[in-house]
Order: sequence, then C-alpha cells, then structure tokens
Amino acid sequence: MSRLIIDTDPGVDDAFALALAARSPEVDLLAVTTVFGNVGLEHTTRNALRVLALLGREDVPVGVGAARPLVHATPLRAAAVHGDDGLSGRSALLPQRSRGVEPEDAVALMARLITESPEPVTLVPIGPLTNIAALLAAHPGVKSNIDRVVIMGGGLTGGNVTAAAEFNLWCDPEAAHRVLVTEDLPTVLVPTDLTYQCAVDGDWLDRLAASGPLGAALEPLTEVYRAHYRQILGYDGTVIHDAVAVAEAIRPGILRTTPIPVHVDTAFGPRRGGLLADRRLIAPAVDPGFRTIEVALETDVEALRAFLLDRLT
Ligand code: BDR
Ligand code: CA
Repeated sequence: MSRLIIDTDPGVDDAFALALAARSPEVDLLAVTTVFGNVGLEHTTRNALRVLALLGREDVPVGVGAARPLVHATPLRAAAVHGDDGLSGRSALLPQRSRGVEPEDAVALMARLITESPEPVTLVPIGPLTNIAALLAAHPGVKSNIDRVVIMGGGLTGGNVTAAAEFNLWCDPEAAHRVLVTEDLPTVLVPTDLTYQCAVDGDWLDRLAASGPLGAALEPLTEVYRAHYRQILGYDGTVIHDAVAVAEAIRPGILRTTPIPVHVDTAFGPRRGGLLADRRLIAPAVDPGFRTIEVALETDVEALRAFLLDRLT
C-alpha cells in the first residue's frame, strides 16, 4: 500500500491525477494539499474539493497551502490552458463536497500526517513546489519518514511556459531549487519530455467519456485544455502530465528513470525557472549547485495509457 500526499493546483490534468490516485486500491491517499498555480488558490482549492466529491472521497482531508510563491510574485498565466476556473469553465458542474477544508493549513497537515504515519509517506507534488519547500524548511524532521518525492515538473529540452521553463518550476523557481537541489530526499522528476510522449488521443478520450459516470464527468473538463493541446500536438488529443507522475507514485518503476545532476535557474532573465541537466556522457563529479536525482524519461507508453484508462473507468 503506497501512502501518498498529493500537493496540487487543479487544473485539468491534476483532476485526472487525483482521480487516478483516488481510484487505485493500492493507494492510501492520506491528504490532498492545494497550492496556487494553474489558477488562483481559491479556485484550485475549490476544484480539489469538487473533484474529490465526484470521486466519493469525503474521507480525504484537504489542506490549503500557498497563494503565492516563496520569494518573488509571478503573474498567473495558465487560464488560457485550463480555463478561467481551472477546469475548462465546467467546475460548477461537479458536486460540492460536504466536508470542507481542514483547520490546519497544508504545511501543518502534511507535517502532522507524515510524523504520525507508521509507514514512510510518498509526496507527490504536481503543481508549484511552494508548499513542499515550506514544509521541508519548517519541519526538517519529517524527512526521515518520507520515502520519496515524485514531482511533475521541468523539461530537459526546454520549457512550456517560457523557452526555458516548465510551468511548475517557473511558478516558484526558488521553491523548486530548494526541493530539487538543496534538499537530499530521494526524488523522481517526471518532466515534460516524458509526459508529452504519453499524450492521449481523441479515441482515448472518447473511450473515457463512454466508459461510465466517472469518465463521462472527467472528459468534458478537458474542453479548453484539449483545444490548447490540439494546437501543440497537431492532432486531437491532450497531455495529462500530472497523471503520469501519479502513476509512478502508485506503481514504482512504471516509468524508467536515469540519475541526472540537475540545477534550477533562479536568476532573473530568459532562463529563470529553467532546469539545467548535466548529461555529459562521462559521469563528472557533481558540480556545485547541482544534485543528482532520478529523472523519468522512458516508459511503455501504450501500457501506461491502458493503465490510466483502466483506472479512470
Ligand atoms: C504542469 O503545469 C500545469 O499546467 C499542469 O497542471 C502540470 O502540472 C505541466 O507543465
Ligand atoms: Ca498541476
């Protein structure tokens, strides 16, 4: 049984990732914590609650996290991708959850649950890394009971929000640097290099929509998001980045990883928020400012798509 805490900014692909975790019998979903990102914190929190209501998960506590990055404010930029409400304008169609948010904020909730857990916990950040950086800074003692951190973020070959930066790292580069480089937790990074390979097409989405009540509720949430990715992919389909990371958290090894020294650029300039990966063939001593983490670059793409469809239907 994997004991997971998902830190998220729903977000269309976040909604799919939450559904995947909530519908996986081998997962004990200890909590969902929310962070600003794709849309503002009020929207991401409301969306997390509603998606959990759709999934029948009143039992999962929701902790509210950061509304802003740790150090430097960045403007929100993803409404054009996920819709003004973060779910293609369809969030109001989802049921309301009777259990609201917890009195503890995201950091306090994570710290308590990790400390109390009889087994190590896997953290799964699928949004900006602000809450995770704050957790590790304020409660370093939790590290001894975290088995690994599985992060969706970064791009080795470039960004998706700027030429250099992937969205989750771009939103809070200082937090990303702290979690990826400064800290020493076992870390798996699932970058866009892999998530794009795992794009799903119109046929996959049609099968999801026709599969039953959950699929019929999830598929319409993709409308704005799917139109955005149609332009990028050049065919009718979409990219459910965050669900790829959650798949690895649920089934360790479903993605193939490679140890790579990485650095996050926090300087102001065109590379801010970018991931610099040291891919020299002869393994060098790790340069200062880099840390070697596991980066997921390969998987059996067809098997992964089938796994996702199976769990969401
Ligand atoms: C990441 O950015 C967000 O838009 C998605 O939810 C995902 O977490 C992809 O770059
Ligand atoms: Ca996300």
